[in-house]
Amino acid sequence: MKFFIDTASLTEIQEAADLGLLDGVTTNPSLLAKETGDSMEIFREICKIVDGPVSAEVTALDHEGMVREAEILRKIADNIVIKIPMTLEGLKALKTLSREGVETNCTLIFNATQALMAAKAGATYASPFVGRLDDISGNGMYLIEQICTIYRNYGLDTQVLVASIRLPEQVTQAAMIGAHVSTIPPKVMRQLASHPLTDIGLATFMADVEKMKNRT
Ligand code: E4P
Repeated sequence: MKFFIDTASLTEIQEAADLGLLDGVTTNPSLLAKETGDSMEIFREICKIVDGPVSAEVTALDHEGMVREAEILRKIADNIVIKIPMTLEGLKALKTLSREGVETNCTLIFNATQALMAAKAGATYASPFVGRLDDISGNGMYLIEQICTIYRNYGLDTQVLVASIRLPEQVTQAAMIGAHVSTIPPKVMRQLASHPLTDIGLATFMADVEKMKNRT
């Protein structure tokens, strides 16, 4: 499973890239609003850090506007992926862009039919938001299972990009189900590598190293 990081913070992206496990980046207008500076400049800087796909979201709500914005965003770097919201206008834009060979990420997916439509429109990635569904007592991981099954049933190439992740366990579940990508917030990315027994085990080993030093 690919690991993307879900942030527009250059510091956090650099930190994740330094781990050597980072396959891509997703951003959205809310994440960009937390940073300072021009969005285009932020995308440019992100693409300097990461070779993999970097999702940049359009802000137009109409099909023509989305396609126009996509043209501008694509000029930033070859690895920019155009993020399009799951709306009727968005589906039209996905179709147009996929015909032109542009990589896209259909965002704000909350049910399996939306994911099926995104794939039929030619989206490269479909982003179901598991955390936001769980927040309203839905079942985010069941949605991932449904989408993966449907895509397998029909041999659809669209990659399932698990989004709105809140917990390390969700990354494990997404991998068990066979989702292609998890986009992970920086905090969860750090949590993924830790376990209390690892910390206790390491502390014991280090204490024993000290004991051995004192032996001579
Ligand atoms: C995905 O691309 C979105 O940026 C993101 O995962 C949304 O997550 P949130 O529900 O934590 O805002």
